[in-house]
Amino acid sequence: MEAEIEKVILSEAAIKERVQNIAKRIVVDYEGKKLTVIGVLNGGLIFLADLIRHIPFTVKIDTVRVNTYLGDATYPKREADIVDNIRLKVKGEHVIVVDDILDTGKTLAKTLQMIKEQNPLSIKICVLLNKRARREENVVADYSCFDIENQFVVGYGLDFDNKYRNLPYIAVLKT
Ligand code: XMP
Repeated sequence: MEAEIEKVILSEAAIKERVQNIAKRIVVDYEGKKLTVIGVLNGGLIFLADLIRHIPFTVKIDTVRVNTYLGDATYPKREADIVDNIRLKVKGEHVIVVDDILDTGKTLAKTLQMIKEQNPLSIKICVLLNKRARREENVVADYSCFDIENQFVVGYGLDFDNKYRNLPYIAVLKT
């Protein structure tokens, strides 16, 4: 697997430190509140697992599975569909949605729209990576670990063809 890596752009140590710092901010912001953390599968899986283990108080966890796809020649826009919704009820809860990357914003826009229908007390977004250059939706990350340039990255949950999610760092592939 490592032979296919061009360059590591975020090391395992850098990610670990930054995830810990973001978790500390979340702990300060939500201590004493009813918090539900919702991870976006599959990409957000690793980040979600690491992040929540730094939260020392009671927190409910659920996941949503979102499919992002490109349309066809007549409608070539990138779209997102919720294919597996949350099971928890979040009315009256504070919610943080956790994903690997905020790119065009389609995935998180759709996820937020669906969660807001349940009238949570508040809803915020937490992402590992923020790729601002490609934004198409008006979605803002409340907590973001790293800004990255407009390049395709893998590792720490992010895949290419469902591979590389288990790399402990973020990297660019050889072309
Ligand atoms: P949108 O465009 O909806 O994208 O904000 C979010 C989802 O698209 C995937 N994505 C990537 N996956 N490397 C990846 O492995 C990337 O550079 C990348 N950019 C977007 C990802 O699944 C994310 O949840």
